[in-house]
Amino acid sequence: MEEGSRYREQEERRRRRMAFRSLLCCGTSRDGKEPGKKGSPAWRVFSLQELYIATNKFNYDNKLGEGGFGSVYRGRLYDGTQIAVKRLKVWSNRAEMEFAAEVEVLAKVRHKNLLNLRGYCTEGKERLIVYDYMPNLSLVSHLHGQHSQACALDWKRRMNIAIGSAEGIAYLHHHDTQHIIHRDIKASNVLLDSKFQARVSDFGFARLIPDGATHVTTRVKGTLGYLAPEYAMLGKASESCDVYSFGILLLELASGKKAIEKLNLTVKQRIVDWALPLARQKRFKEMADPNLKGNFVESDLRRMVLVGLICAQSKPENRPTILDVIDLLKGEPKGKLFDLENNELFRVNFGHILSSSQHSADDIEEDSQINRIKELGPLNETVTGNT
Ligand SMILES: Nc1ncnc2c1ncn2[C@@H]1O[C@H](COP(=O)(O)OP(=O)(O)OP(=O)(O)O)[C@@H](O)[C@H]1O
Ligand SMILES: [Mg+2]
Repeated sequence: MEEGSRYREQEERRRRRMAFRSLLCCGTSRDGKEPGKKGSPAWRVFSLQELYIATNKFNYDNKLGEGGFGSVYRGRLYDGTQIAVKRLKVWSNRAEMEFAAEVEVLAKVRHKNLLNLRGYCTEGKERLIVYDYMPNLSLVSHLHGQHSQACALDWKRRMNIAIGSAEGIAYLHHHDTQHIIHRDIKASNVLLDSKFQARVSDFGFARLIPDGATHVTTRVKGTLGYLAPEYAMLGKASESCDVYSFGILLLELASGKKAIEKLNLTVKQRIVDWALPLARQKRFKEMADPNLKGNFVESDLRRMVLVGLICAQSKPENRPTILDVIDLLKGEPKGKLFDLENNELFRVNFGHILSSSQHSADDIEEDSQINRIKELGPLNETVTGNT
């Protein structure tokens, strides 16, 4: 390409970028607060320099963790505000404007149980997303990681987190202007603020990442144990896939077990396969997280387990909606709860208990998911980084 026309093209791109940024920035007051919304900072474009300083050059000591899309760093802005910066691995030369437009869409999604997006940075090859910093990190660190023994998650907090995160997901699914399927509900994507309120993170993330084999492989590996069978096998994403993953999360929250537990070097067990037989025999007390040391409300625990299992069943048409889930978790209305307890999923299936060689239709479908997962390769731990 001729030097002059390349220059003109670059200039035009720069001009469009500036025009687009000013368009996105309108509606934001000078102090970065959304007009008329006290205490709720609007999003904005950050410079790389600012984030570089905030994170002390993406210093390893500030690294909070690493996921399938890149690393997350804690940072402090010049005004003292704490932030979390997700530095994306660069998959392709996704256009800056396209990336910015998608972030803008996500930034508009605001709810008390969704992680607040503060802005983004696209400079050169860098793609960074800036979030509110969550001082209590993710559910993973409290259930399975460094904080699990201390058990900051008493039963009341767990119930709050369950209902709060369901409300965040319901906002994504049923908000009138947007219907967002999360696709990656899991313990590391439920962050906890200073009051241990749940903030669901990484919603709509699939929008930011270009389609491609690397992405698909990473996601499937990164979320094993939470994937609805129809999503794992056919790639069909829908709201009910999120409900399935949420069911797994509820079982984790109640029991403190991981979505997939390693029983020994070669055998792994999915949480549903552990929980369903126990629930059918009404052995709920035995299912409580030992870190709770017996301090839990039995009727709540029973409800959390039953709702978890009804969500995480293989047939999507039998799963509740996330709005039903909220009602069920709150124990309202009584009729719904009664139906739940009498659901055929929880009828004692002696064949299932007595003989592992006899399977129900549901089990067979689940087995084929496991086979499919085996085909995809070794099960990866979903947690990386400082948890
Ligand atoms: N806003 C935040 N505040 C505090 N910690 C965070 C924040 N965002 C992420 N983290 C921490 O960084 C870790 C890595 O997050 P990240 O989203 O990159 O990976 P992941 O959730 O494990 O996997 P995935 O890439 O599939 O979402 C999380 O487990 C969490 O502990
Ligand atoms: Mg995440």
